[in-house]
Amino acid sequence: MPQNLSPVDKAKFAAASRAVDFVEAGMRVGLGTGSTAAWMVRILGARVRDEGLKIAGVATSARTAALARAEGITVVTLDEARWLDLTIDGADEFDPKLNLIKGGGAALLQEKIVATASDQMIVITDAAKEVAHLGAFPLPVEVIGFGLQTTRALIEEMIEALDVLGRKVTLRMNGDTPLVTDEGNRILDLHLGRIGNPGQLAMVLNQVPGVVENGLFIDICDRVIIGHGDGGFEMRDIITGAVETGRIDFAESGNIFADLGH
Ligand code: 5RP
Repeated sequence: MPQNLSPVDKAKFAAASRAVDFVEAGMRVGLGTGSTAAWMVRILGARVRDEGLKIAGVATSARTAALARAEGITVVTLDEARWLDLTIDGADEFDPKLNLIKGGGAALLQEKIVATASDQMIVITDAAKEVAHLGAFPLPVEVIGFGLQTTRALIEEMIEALDVLGRKVTLRMNGDTPLVTDEGNRILDLHLGRIGNPGQLAMVLNQVPGVVENGLFIDICDRVIIGHGDGGFEMRDIITGAVETGRIDFAESGNIFADLGH
């Protein structure tokens, strides 16, 4: 039952639920990765099953694709969809300009390609992800395996000249071995503390040979929906400046929880 959910899951559910209201029949929808995005996929799946909603989903990771298919959502490749109406995804941090750090779930490369190929990106999150300045969350950078230590040294040298607080770089591990992304690459996490100029850092990082993409999403997100533990949410639109608040009725979502066996 919904009342058994933790406040954090209720917050994620509330944000995801409001975001799914934006999905209309016939849309091509980018499906994000992570625990908040997983709620969105489940809620969207419930609409597909209950309302017969016809959409095509483009997943940002193998695990999101598997979940979406299990939920009954038609999953197509980005090359089949070409361009998307909307992407809904989580984030690790967002600032007042709705610039993001993403990649905590190691899916930043596909997430960035999919979000960039969308008319609109909505980020769904809980309040803990809001920051005045990006950088407390280690910035993920996807790099190829060849020459990994050289790429790492070049990144360390490059960030010496930039406006950041910390400069430690660590290789993301999966147990005893380096984590391998869906695209067969590695992740370096940059422990920067505070990023003075995220736009500059994003551009400079991508100039380093061996870097495939970085987890800074600059001017990509249009709206953020912040969920709260009591089912309330706040939605902010960066273009219009509009703010909407509301509350999700958990009782109306009973079938989703029943499917999950909560
Ligand atoms: C995955 C991501 C996720 O969106 C981000 O890590 C947030 O995840 P969660 O919703 O589980 O907190 O960027 O690469």
